[in-house]
Amino acid sequence: MSLYAIGDLHLHYQSVLKAPGQLHGRVWKNHEEKFRKNCAKTVTPEDTLVLVGDHSWGKNLLECERDLQYIRDLPGRKILTRGNHDMFWDVKKTGMLNEMYKPELTFVQDSYDSYQDYAIVATKGFTFEGPFYIDRRGRIVGWDEEEEEHARKLVARELVRLRKSFDLAKDAGYRKFIMFLHYPPTSILEERSGFTDMAEEYGAEQVIYAHSHGESRFHDSIHGKYRGREYHLVSGDYLRWKPLKILE
Ligand SMILES: [Fe+2]
Ligand SMILES: [Fe+2]
Repeated sequence: MSLYAIGDLHLHYQSVLKAPGQLHGRVWKNHEEKFRKNCAKTVTPEDTLVLVGDHSWGKNLLECERDLQYIRDLPGRKILTRGNHDMFWDVKKTGMLNEMYKPELTFVQDSYDSYQDYAIVATKGFTFEGPFYIDRRGRIVGWDEEEEEHARKLVARELVRLRKSFDLAKDAGYRKFIMFLHYPPTSILEERSGFTDMAEEYGAEQVIYAHSHGESRFHDSIHGKYRGREYHLVSGDYLRWKPLKILE
């Protein structure tokens, strides 16, 4: 029995791909098939697969039906967390999604799930992504301060949601945590953040995040051992569509 994670499937069986530039490149060619085959090889029906946001380009649930069916047909138990492109998933409709897709899919928002004696805590997160002003040598010399202020508010809201997820799990008796974010835990300007601080405060053993696409973004945030925790980027193109084993 194992716990796996991957993010950013960006399925679009019934919808228009809205970032064709972002999703060009060999790694995205037939990525649905590559991922399906990799899952069939590695994930067993007893395993759990956490999908870390950006599931579908669909604007609403109708446009996501086949995408969610694809996810449903993957092996193992599937846990979904929210990404910035998941327009079908209004926070207030999480209960309805869980009703519709149980028992194969679990949508985690303002709640937690579990794997063995670990709590799976999750929120979308947020990271300031610019615009940055760069000099001729490629050094950052400034950034859009209004956007940064806006980002601060979104980060604060997401930290409230993350704390709720941790506290619900803690109140239920969990003492071991794996923390999932869609956005990277730090921006390119930060060495630590409210998210890394919270991971440390609750003793999360691992922090799993996605969202960063393309070679130039893969190292925007933390990789590996850092301040006592293990950080892993699991965006699908980074993993080349092979789900990452998080726990045995
Ligand atoms: Fe994405
Ligand atoms: Fe994203």
